Amino acid sequence: MRPRHVIHSQLICADYNGDYPEMVSGEGVYLIDRQGRRYLDASGCTAAVTNLGHGHPRIAAVLAEQARTLAVHPTHVFHSEVLERYLGRLCAFAPDGFNHAWTICGGTEAIENSIKLAYQYHRAKGRTTRNRVLGRRGSYHGNSILALDVGGLKARRDFYSGLLADRHLHLSPCFPWRRAAEQSESEYEDALIDEASRTLSQYTDEILAFVAEPIVGAALGAVAPTPRYFERIAALCREHDVLMIADEVMTGFGRTGRAFGCEHFGTHTDILACAKGISGGYFPMGAVIAHDRVLEPIVASGVPFQSGQTYSCIPLAAAVGEAVLDVIEDEKLVAASAQVGIYLRRGLETLLDRRGVGDVRGTGLFLSVELVQDVSSKAPFATELGVAKRVEAAALQRGLVTYACRGTVEGTRGDHLLFAPPLVLTEADADFIIETLRASIDAVMAAPELRTV
Ligand SMILES: Cc1ncc(COP(=O)(O)O)c(C=O)c1O
Repeated sequence: MRPRHVIHSQLICADYNGDYPEMVSGEGVYLIDRQGRRYLDASGCTAAVTNLGHGHPRIAAVLAEQARTLAVHPTHVFHSEVLERYLGRLCAFAPDGFNHAWTICGGTEAIENSIKLAYQYHRAKGRTTRNRVLGRRGSYHGNSILALDVGGLKARRDFYSGLLADRHLHLSPCFPWRRAAEQSESEYEDALIDEASRTLSQYTDEILAFVAEPIVGAALGAVAPTPRYFERIAALCREHDVLMIADEVMTGFGRTGRAFGCEHFGTHTDILACAKGISGGYFPMGAVIAHDRVLEPIVASGVPFQSGQTYSCIPLAAAVGEAVLDVIEDEKLVAASAQVGIYLRRGLETLLDRRGVGDVRGTGLFLSVELVQDVSSKAPFATELGVAKRVEAAALQRGLVTYACRGTVEGTRGDHLLFAPPLVLTEADADFIIETLRASIDAVMAAPELRTV
């Protein structure tokens, strides 16, 4: 048996009993360990990060060249051509009207800075009481204290309850598959819109922005809303001049078969919070992309954006970001995600006949399999059985990396697996995912304690 923690001895470890294979390289959709074993990375590196695949030579070359030329410069007195060019490219990649951008180091910072921008929008309009964000339960927006507070993922919030201010408000998630059996989809949507309307009316003078993932990722498992949900929420937000922030950290940059996830539902947003696929994992990076209507009052107020960190808008990030956009365009990765995504989803749907598989859902290469104890009632497995984790481990043994998540039901119970592989995935790779998952689920469900449930 491999000795534990030889490699991790100095790491503040996420799993003190973890016995992890040592990774030495990556190549396309594969990760390769010290023994030369290849793992198909269907999680996209926890998750939805490696959109371009591992070891992309173009990105590696640009990164090295920009590091040699100019990695950083003082931003309080200089700017750079590479940054100006990149911000222009980024805005051109975004939907029409999104003409202002700012880069930072990841998704949590993208959310924090989006909220700060929305806060400044209201300050610029002379409003000093708009100090609360409207989020949703069953959503994750990052791991800083503000992002946890705005997010509604009980499993991640509870431990930090002593630090959370509980200042922010949370609506119900829009999770059509888990609506009450007697409710039609349109009744369900109406009820959610009523809830949003009541909350926005009650707290109009306090809410600065509504934050949502267009398609909910790890928290619920690739859950798209009912078709008119965002259009109706947007109408309410406009009525109360509440800004909409789309958390595109997972769903951006082609992941769902469109450039941005919100484009599936008519865009309806004012700010795009981006990370992960923006750099494909080659650099710690995030961005805020804002619509003209957000910047107009701020620019008119003459007060610059009240934010900024050491690594905001540095040339190295800009060069990587630009190279990533080049690859997305040249390799037509947005269309590839849509196309292979349909193939993978159809294949995963064939698993609906396996015991324990309740639902298969998602769009593009952003898919999920929800595991349930009882398919007809949708009752989840007992949390302590750790079913998703067991399937993840069984798949790993067979050379497939998946991402097991819990909290699908009311934030604590429920199991699902998220699939967000590199967008360069082929149909043959998709077949491997499907067959390996089938074998892994069957192996886990055959365990005596699961056979009796
Ligand atoms: C939807 C969503 N928002 C925000 C974040 C936070 O991003 P980061 O981990 O880069 O800070 C994540 C991370 O998984 C995410 O999935």
